[in-house]
Amino acid sequence: MSNRKILVTSALPYANGPIHLGHLVEYIQTDIWVRFQKQRGNLCYYVCADDTHGTPIMLKADRDGITPEELIAAVGKEHLADFTEFGVAFDNYHSTHSEENKIFSELIYERLRDAGHISSRSITQAYDPVKNMFLSDRFIKGECPKCGAADQYGDGCEVCGATYSPTDLKNSVSAISGAKPIDKDSVHYFFDLANFTDMLRSWTNAGHLQPEVRNKLAEWLDGGLQQWDISRDAPYFGFEIPDAPGKYFYVWLDAPVGYMASFKNLCDKQGLDFNEFWGKGSNAELYHFIGKDIIYFHALFWPAMLTGAHFRTPSAIFAHGFLTVNGAKMSKSRGTFIKARTYLEHLNPEYLRYYFAAKLSSSVDDLDLNFDDFTQRVNSDLVGKVVNIASRCSGFIAKRFNNVLSEHNAEPGLFEEFVNASQQIADFYEAREFGKAMREIMALADKANQYIDEKKPWLIAKEEGKDQELHDVCSVGINLFRLLAAYLSPVLPVLAANTEEYLNLKPQTWPTQATPLIAHTINAFKPLMTRVEPDKIAAIIEASKENLEKTADAPKALNFEPIADTIEFDDFAKLDLRIAKIIKAEHVEGAEKLLQLTVDIGDETRNIFAGIKSAYAPEDLEGRLTLVIANLAPRKMRFGVSEGMVLAAGPGGKDIWVLSPDEGAVAGMRVK
Ligand code: 2FM
Ligand code: ZN
Repeated sequence: MSNRKILVTSALPYANGPIHLGHLVEYIQTDIWVRFQKQRGNLCYYVCADDTHGTPIMLKADRDGITPEELIAAVGKEHLADFTEFGVAFDNYHSTHSEENKIFSELIYERLRDAGHISSRSITQAYDPVKNMFLSDRFIKGECPKCGAADQYGDGCEVCGATYSPTDLKNSVSAISGAKPIDKDSVHYFFDLANFTDMLRSWTNAGHLQPEVRNKLAEWLDGGLQQWDISRDAPYFGFEIPDAPGKYFYVWLDAPVGYMASFKNLCDKQGLDFNEFWGKGSNAELYHFIGKDIIYFHALFWPAMLTGAHFRTPSAIFAHGFLTVNGAKMSKSRGTFIKARTYLEHLNPEYLRYYFAAKLSSSVDDLDLNFDDFTQRVNSDLVGKVVNIASRCSGFIAKRFNNVLSEHNAEPGLFEEFVNASQQIADFYEAREFGKAMREIMALADKANQYIDEKKPWLIAKEEGKDQELHDVCSVGINLFRLLAAYLSPVLPVLAANTEEYLNLKPQTWPTQATPLIAHTINAFKPLMTRVEPDKIAAIIEASKENLEKTADAPKALNFEPIADTIEFDDFAKLDLRIAKIIKAEHVEGAEKLLQLTVDIGDETRNIFAGIKSAYAPEDLEGRLTLVIANLAPRKMRFGVSEGMVLAAGPGGKDIWVLSPDEGAVAGMRVK
């Protein structure tokens, strides 16, 4: 076997939200491929990182009353914990907010600039005069110029489907402060992508892309390549551009550079040679697994940036489709927008790894998670076929033969057939045709079960003088099971490890040369996998619906993200709005924006965290009356549990107003 050198990445998840099942399609797909490469004996590294820069992360931190650094540190930990529990085994997980990434982003930018690929000019953009920041399209709301629908975003109307520029919106407002945007000029920096048209034409046709992706790129190239705006004005959470104070790299400039940064971080930890993988003329393979929505960045901008900055280009980009659940887009109201954590609280992650594997191919087609199909496949394939082989044989080997396998291989032909399948299965894994690989493996599992059905060890066991036959049949079963576990190992690492423990084996390499276990002592059998319980799926869906309620209740009042949905009067009627007296107000250690309030709402006192520190000192608040939502479900925050919400208004900063109630208002008074 040749020893290939391979570096693999998955797209870097944004650090402003949790990992959900949609993300996991990609990480599980990549992880299976990487584990397969390692099992084959190739040198393979899998790196990733959190994508930490940009306006949404800055605003979310602001809203949570923490710094962006605090936010990304906390989210990074959660992401890695989710991935790890799903068996996604990165060799390194880093952050784009890292020294390595800053160095490489600057280096690439400077090389592009020095080669004449960067230009600058002034452009006019919408600007929020209250928050003092430029507004990208998604942060402007107004009435659709075509159909008049209210509350539409700057880039298109969700009601009539019209697309337009934000300046066409009527009565537009900033979704961040509610202020009317003004037009403002500012100098921006552009990457002259068109300089790379010829390079990209040949690169996109040189076998680095899936056919459907290549066709899409041909369309884009035919349409002509535009300059890419790579700068953003302060305030922005990111890296300042070296020769342009107050200007920051747009998040998408430094995000793919994060692949290099994470690998460099690994190199420094393990003494690897960075240039062997990224230098021009490198003979290592470099693969990026991505979703189909970010092809533009990976198949145009990224190879052009790398070429312009004298680095090697990727060997291939592997794009996959989106996840639907029960045939439809993931939906919070249906409970199908499922967080990784919610799934982990109820079901074995290997079920999902197998199910995704069974449905994955090398195409960019969407993939549907149908829960009935999921239950049926896991129960019938993994529990009913694969694990069943071991359960049917293990009891006899333990009770009658003291956990020692037979001295003969009674079915050399069958064993050989299983070993010979290794090439076909390997080819399917290599080509990311995991569904086909799973079908091949399950066909072998069927054969093993048929063999046991025909031999009927449970009957042989009852006959006198047939010990040898019983021993042989069950040992054949165990030997076949062992090969199946090796083939499934990239998909089911825990099942494979438990099988190795049971069979008293070292981690199994790819079984191209496998020979049967003869007179080999194994360990006591423990159940390797149990059936999917349908009530667990119902519980996940239920919990995901709750997630929605929690999100809807989350504080959006201060420094908000855009609020899209309207609510019905009945929803409003559910609010228990009360006048509350602030009994105590304190600073919260480590929180930049929060104050901890103890408030009297009439019948009880509550602990509430409020993001109003920029406007009030604690001593200004004690004794004052304010308005709270008293029936908000308690929310666990980083600093404690918040048992309600203080209502305040204003653009933020010094201008946040807690209610000045009418004279005569008393704590506990209901407001509606
Ligand atoms: O689309 C996304 O979720 C981005 N955070 C992916 C970045 S991939 C890479 F370029 F960093
Ligand atoms: Zn419209």
